[in-house]
Amino acid sequence: MTKAWRAGALFGGGLVLLYAAVPVLARPAAAPATVRPDFDRDVMPVLQEHCLSCHGTSDPEGDLVMESYEDLMKGGTHGPPVAPGRSEESRLVMMVEGRTKPKMPPKRELAPEALSLIKAWIDAGAEPPAATAATRIPDIKPRLARPSPVYSVAFSPDGRQLAVAGHKEVRVLDPTTGRRLRTLSGPSDLVRSVTFSPDGKWLAAAGGIPARSGEIVLWDAATGTRVRTIKGHRDYVYQAAFSPPGGLLLATSSYDKSIRLWDVASGIEQATLREHTDAVFPVAFSPDGKWLASGAGDRTVKVWDVSTGRRLFTLSDSLDTVYALAFHPSGRQLSAAGADKMIRTWDLTGQDGTLAFSTIAHEDAIVQLAYSADGRRMVTAAADRRVKVWDVEKRTELRVLPAQSDWPTALALAPDGQSVAVGRYDGSVSLYDLASGRLQVDLLKPATPAAQTAGAYAAKQRAERDSLPPGPRSGPPGSAAANSLRRRERRERGSKGARRSAPLLDRRSR
Ligand code: HEC
Repeated sequence: MTKAWRAGALFGGGLVLLYAAVPVLARPAAAPATVRPDFDRDVMPVLQEHCLSCHGTSDPEGDLVMESYEDLMKGGTHGPPVAPGRSEESRLVMMVEGRTKPKMPPKRELAPEALSLIKAWIDAGAEPPAATAATRIPDIKPRLARPSPVYSVAFSPDGRQLAVAGHKEVRVLDPTTGRRLRTLSGPSDLVRSVTFSPDGKWLAAAGGIPARSGEIVLWDAATGTRVRTIKGHRDYVYQAAFSPPGGLLLATSSYDKSIRLWDVASGIEQATLREHTDAVFPVAFSPDGKWLASGAGDRTVKVWDVSTGRRLFTLSDSLDTVYALAFHPSGRQLSAAGADKMIRTWDLTGQDGTLAFSTIAHEDAIVQLAYSADGRRMVTAAADRRVKVWDVEKRTELRVLPAQSDWPTALALAPDGQSVAVGRYDGSVSLYDLASGRLQVDLLKPATPAAQTAGAYAAKQRAERDSLPPGPRSGPPGSAAANSLRRRERRERGSKGARRSAPLLDRRSR
C-alpha cells in the first residue's frame, strides 16, 4: 500500500464519502492498484470551488492558472506548485496548510477531506486526468457555443472602463476600442446587473440562481481582486445600486419580492424592505442618497427613506410591471417605465410625488431608462428593439438610434454625457454618440448571425437559462401563440407560487 492510501485511510471519512459513488472505492485499501484519485473527478471540483476565483485564466494571482491539469502543472511565478509523489513538499499543499505564506485560499479554510484528496492525488503521482478529452466532465468554463445575453452595462465614474455583464463573469472593456481590460470571474450564474460605486472603488455584479438564491459579487475595481460574495435573497437579484455619494450601502432588488440594503464594507445586511407584492425589478438611489426608489411587478413605484428603511410613498400610476426607473440628476423628479410601454415622470415633494408627465414611448415593454448626467437627455430601450433619445425639457422624442441587432437589454450613459453604451440579448455591445445618435464603435460583436438570434434560438436559450416551465413560448410578440400565453399568464398572475418570467422573457411570453 502506498503512502497515499494510508493517508487516504487516515482521512477515511472524507475519502470514503467522496468515493461512495464507486463501490470498490469505499474501501480504498482493498484495491489500491486500480483506484486512485482522478484529477478531473476529484481535484478539479475542489480547485473550482476554492481557487478559481483568483486563479482563472484572466489575471491569475501568482501567475498560476488552475483551469486544467496542464495549467496547474505548468505553475506560476514560483514554478510548478505540485511535486508528484511528494505532497508534503508541494508548494500548493504547503500554502493551503499555511506552512508557506501567504496561506491559500487567503481567507477561507479548505475542508480537511478536500485537502486530503489533493494530497492523495499528488502522492499517487499527480497523474493527468484518466478520462479522454471526449468523456471529460465539462470544465468550469464551458466554451459557450452561444453568447450570453448582456443584461447590464456600466461605466466607471471616470468613464474609462465599461463593465459588461455576462454568464458567470464580468468583462471590463475600454469603451473607446472594445479592448478587453479584464475579465472578472466568480459569479455562479448569469449576471443581471453590474455597477461601479460612485467613488469608483468597487464593482458589483448581481445575479444568482432563479428560484433559489441571489448573489452579489464585489471586486476591488482598481485591482480586479474579488473582495466578497454576498448571498441573501431567495431568488435571483435583478439590480444592484450603490448609494451616493460614498457607496457605503448597496441596494439589491430581487424576484423574491424584497429589497435588501447591505453595508458594503462588511457585507452585512442592514435592512430588508418588503412591501412589494411581486418581483422587484429596478432600484435607484436619489442623487443625495437619502431616498431609494423601487419598481415592481405589482405595478407600483415605491420610494423609501434609506436611513429608516421606511416606505415614504407609493406611486400607483403604472398599468403594468415597472422595469426601469431613474431619478433626474437634480433629484426633483423621478421617471419610470415598463411593460405598459409608457414613460412617466413624477415631481417629487418632500412627502410625495405627483405625476407631471406621461407618454406612450415605445411599441413594446420598456426595459431600460437612464438620464444623462446633465439631466437634459433621457434614453430608453425597449422590447420593440428600439433605443430612443428624449429631450427632457421639451418632453419630446429626439431620435431613434440605428437598428439594433437584437433586444437592447442593457443601457448606460457615459459620465461625460457624450455617448451611450447599449448591450443586447445577442451578446453584442455598441457605443453611440448621444448628440448625433451615430454608431461610434461595436465593442462586442454578436456571436451568432443576426438571423438566428431572435426567434427559436433565443427562446430556447431563455428557457434553459431561466428554467421556465415548458410551454408554447415561441412566436414573436403579438403572434397568436404569444398572445394566448400572455392571456394565460395574466390569469395565473397573482395566484400563489405562479412563477412569472423576467422582463424580456415577460415580453415574449405574456
Ligand atoms: C482570494 C484570492 C485567492 C484564492 C481564492 C486563492 N489564491 Fe492562491 N494566490 C493568491 C495570490 C494573491 C497569490 C500570490 C501570492 C504572492 O505571490 O504573494 C496566490 C498564489 C498562489 C500560489 C503560488 C503561485 C506562485 O507560483 O507564486 C499557489 C500554489 C496558490 N496560490 C494556490 C492556491 C490554491 C490551491 C487555492 C485554492 C485552494 C488558492 N490558491 C486560492 C490569491 C488566491
